[in-house]
Amino acid sequence: MKQVNVGMIGYKFMGKAHSHAYRDLPMFFPQVGRPVMKAICGRDEKGVSQAAEQFGWESWTTDWRELLKRDDIDLIDINAPSDAHKEIALAAAAAGKHLFCEKPLALTLADSREMLQAAERAGVKHMVGFNYRFAPAVRLAKKLVEEGRLGQIYHFRAWFLQDWIVDPEFPLVWRLQKEVAGSGSHGDLGAHLIDLAHYLVGDIQEVIGMSETFVKERPMPSSMTGLSARGSKDAPRGPVTVDDATLFLARFAGGALGSFEASRFAPGHRCTNAFEINGSKGSVKFDFERMNELQVYFTDDAEDVQGFRRVLATDPAHAYAEAWWPPGHTIGYEHTFIHEVVELMQALQENRQPVPDFRDGVKCQQVLEAVDLSIAEKRWIQTNEL
Ligand SMILES: NC(=O)c1ccc[n+]([C@@H]2O[C@H](COP(=O)([O-])OP(=O)(O)OC[C@H]3O[C@@H](n4cnc5c(N)ncnc54)[C@H](O)[C@@H]3O)[C@@H](O)[C@H]2O)c1
Repeated sequence: MKQVNVGMIGYKFMGKAHSHAYRDLPMFFPQVGRPVMKAICGRDEKGVSQAAEQFGWESWTTDWRELLKRDDIDLIDINAPSDAHKEIALAAAAAGKHLFCEKPLALTLADSREMLQAAERAGVKHMVGFNYRFAPAVRLAKKLVEEGRLGQIYHFRAWFLQDWIVDPEFPLVWRLQKEVAGSGSHGDLGAHLIDLAHYLVGDIQEVIGMSETFVKERPMPSSMTGLSARGSKDAPRGPVTVDDATLFLARFAGGALGSFEASRFAPGHRCTNAFEINGSKGSVKFDFERMNELQVYFTDDAEDVQGFRRVLATDPAHAYAEAWWPPGHTIGYEHTFIHEVVELMQALQENRQPVPDFRDGVKCQQVLEAVDLSIAEKRWIQTNEL
C-alpha cells in the first residue's frame, strides 16, 4: 500500500478540516493508502507551530516554498485564501508535486485554466476541494439520476444560504475583498452549487444572473479565522468589494432548467446547502443541515402511499457508509473531507486522476464568470462564450 507524504499550506478552517481527514483516514479506510503528515505551513510562526503540534504534523514552516524543495513531500495541499492558490499551484506543479487545492480553484477563469495547464504539463495529479459531492446522500442522488430512476431531468433547484455577515458591524474579512476572494457568496457558496449541478445533472449551457452588496462598508478586522472575526466599531472602515448575494437562472445542455441562489444574508440559515432535482419519474431533495438524509419521491409508487420518503444514507448500501458506524449512527461535515481524501489516496494508488479535478474547477469557474458577465451586461451568456 502506497504512502503519500503531504505538505499542507494554511492551518485554519480548511487546514484543520484537511488535517483531521488525514489523521482519521487510516483508522476507517486503511486499504486506500496512508497519508503522512510531513509539514504544515502558515504565515504566523506561533500559530503554525501550535497547529503542527495540535493537528499532528511532523514539522512546520512559514514559507511554502520550503515545502516544494523537500524530496520527502509528494503532495501539496492548498488551504490558503483563494488569491494564493495560483502561485502556489504553478510552483508546486513545476516542482513535480501532486496538487490538492481548495475551491474556488482561482480568482479568475484565466488563472484556473493556467493552473490546469501547469498540472497537465507537469504530469501531476490534481484535485479540487468540492467536498459536498462526498456526502453519502448526495452520492445516492447521483446514483438515482445515473440509473435513470428519476427519468428525464426537468429541474435542478439549489440554494446555499448563510447568515454570518448580516450584522453590518461584522468586520471586513478576506472573504469580503475581491482581490483576495475573487467574489463573495457567488464564488464561495455558489461554486459548491455549480459543482453539484455539474456532478448531478451535467453541463450548463447558458446563464443569467443578478447580485447585490447590501452592506457596502465594514470595520477592518483585528483577527479572523474561517467564518469568524474580531474587530471594533471604532476601527477604520473599508469598502466591501464582493457580492453579498447572487442569484441566477441556467439552462443545462441536457435540457433541464436550473435556478441557483447564494446568500450570506439569510437570517436563521447557518449553512443551508440544499437542492432539489425533479425528473419525469421522481424527485430528490437534499439539505446539508440534515446531511445524512435524502428525500426521495417516485411517481410509480402506489397512489395511496405516494409522497416523499426519508432515506437515511447510513446503511451499507450507501457510499462510504460501511466504513463508519452501524446504520442510523450518523456522520457529519468532517466526513465529507475524509471521503475526499479517500478518493485522493485511492487515485494516487491507482495512478489515475482523482475526481473532481482541476478540470471541474475550471468548469465551475467558467459558470461563475459567465454569471458575472451576464450581470454586467444584463443578458443571457452562453458558457462557451468564455
Ligand atoms: N470546501 C469548503 O467547504 C470550504 C470551506 C471554507 C473555505 N474553503 C476554501 O478554503 C480556502 C481557505 O479558506 P479558510 O476558510 O480555511 O481560510 P482561513 O482564513 O481560515 O485560513 C487561511 C489560512 O491560510 C494561511 N495563509 C494565507 N496566506 C498564506 C501564504 N501566503 N502562505 C502560507 N499560508 C497562508 C493563513 O495563515 C491561514 O492559516 C479558501 O480558498 C476557501 O474558499 C472551502
